[in-house]
Amino acid sequence: MTNHVPLRLGILISGTGSNLQALIDAIESGKLTDVEIALVVSNKANTQGLQRALKHNLPAIYLPWKERTESEARLAALLHVFEIDLIVLVGWMRILSASFVDQFPRRIINLHPALLPDDGTGNTYTTSDGSQIPVFRGLHVVKQALDCGVKITGSTVHYVTPEVDAGPVICREEVKVEEGDSEESLHERLKLVEHRLIVEAVRVFARENRL
Ligand code: GRF
Repeated sequence: MTNHVPLRLGILISGTGSNLQALIDAIESGKLTDVEIALVVSNKANTQGLQRALKHNLPAIYLPWKERTESEARLAALLHVFEIDLIVLVGWMRILSASFVDQFPRRIINLHPALLPDDGTGNTYTTSDGSQIPVFRGLHVVKQALDCGVKITGSTVHYVTPEVDAGPVICREEVKVEEGDSEESLHERLKLVEHRLIVEAVRVFARENRL
């Protein structure tokens, strides 16, 4: 069925934008229907992500991130003007305040390159082979997983709540850590999984929030 009002995505990025590209490709190829990318915002100028958006004729804006309250007010205004239904954080490197998050209840999702428990809270995660691993949050979580010596890590898409990297999970997938993995090689394999996961998360959201 494709006769719904399309869900309008606002995608927030800070860098490469390979997950943005995955969403663009899924929409253009018809694998993700009833969804459109209505706005791409980057807090950094000259990112590959912005170039990807422009190449596909998507509205794309560089929003310099200075003082948080003012920057968040500008971002919220943009999201309202562009009538965004779902805010998708893919590689967005700025922490959003509780008052910002509270303006968009269950309307912000984040892609996190580590495994989070179902409700997003707690400090341990039980993998499919039954082992317990720590929950990695904050910066450099791929490195945190490697440094900790876990055999399994993964990526998660979750709702954003005021607590960082701690909201309810929409979907997630495990990825094995290989002998000799570097942060780069492991992150590259995680991204391959993420490109599927982010599309799946938007599909689930769209299904549950038909307009
Ligand atoms: C992803 O690995 C995501 O999990 C993390 O930042 C990375 C963004 O990658 N939050 P890209 O810019 O989409 O290539």
